Amino acid sequence: MKNVTIERLKSIKAEGKKFAVITAYDYSFAKLIDEAEIEVTLVGDSLGNVIQGQETTLPVTIDEMAYHTANVNRGISASLIIADMPFMSYATIPQALENAAILMQAGAQMVKLEGGEWLAETVHALTERGIPVCGHLGLTPQSVHKLSGFKVQGKNTEAADKMLYEAKQLEEAGADLLVVECIPSSLGESLAKNLDIPVIGIGAGPATDAQVLVLQDMLGISAKLPKFAKNYLLQESNIQNALKAYKQEVHSGEFPSAEHGF
Ligand code: KIV
Repeated sequence: MKNVTIERLKSIKAEGKKFAVITAYDYSFAKLIDEAEIEVTLVGDSLGNVIQGQETTLPVTIDEMAYHTANVNRGISASLIIADMPFMSYATIPQALENAAILMQAGAQMVKLEGGEWLAETVHALTERGIPVCGHLGLTPQSVHKLSGFKVQGKNTEAADKMLYEAKQLEEAGADLLVVECIPSSLGESLAKNLDIPVIGIGAGPATDAQVLVLQDMLGISAKLPKFAKNYLLQESNIQNALKAYKQEVHSGEFPSAEHGF
């Protein structure tokens, strides 16, 4: 058993505090993340971009996710590990159950799925069987073609109301956490206020209950630094200190600032 539990993350929110999330794909970085006491480690399918050099996350397979999850798991003793379910690995409930089991057996303690209301039944089926779920709304990179690009979501009242409704559906279905990506800061704030479960933002403003960044972005080694990210190696002399500074700035609310929001 790892130290950080879902219960602990929920009590951090209940106490009005914040927690930090970072992506990892291998043992060595996982160990540094764990030593920096970052609460949650996400084995993101962003590995398609930052590890494989793909343009999107669509080519990532369940076997690749399981491989990276197992490697990360060997480096972690305390941080809670979430693994992304890759594109089309949860299109039906039987597929979702089978593929989530592969990631849990590789070392994940929770799986993350992209999508709204259509996923509620799947979330229910997973959580009923003891598999914790993190939802993902807003810019959902697996739907990049349907969304016509990597664009900010939930910009008008109708889209914002729909996202709030879908977030509630996922919560009621049993999701324990929710990631929201590239949405207006005001919507990030109302999602965090209206949900009991912790809301983790990436490009969702300062008011969410937690923040997540892609490791390569916060180390400034991605091809291009997204507006919502910050390169912590510009202010720190080594990776370990950069990870600690990220965690501290999330905890104190210093990151993200207005310049990182939409
Ligand atoms: O795959 C990933 O890294 C993610 C984060 C951007 C939230 O889903």
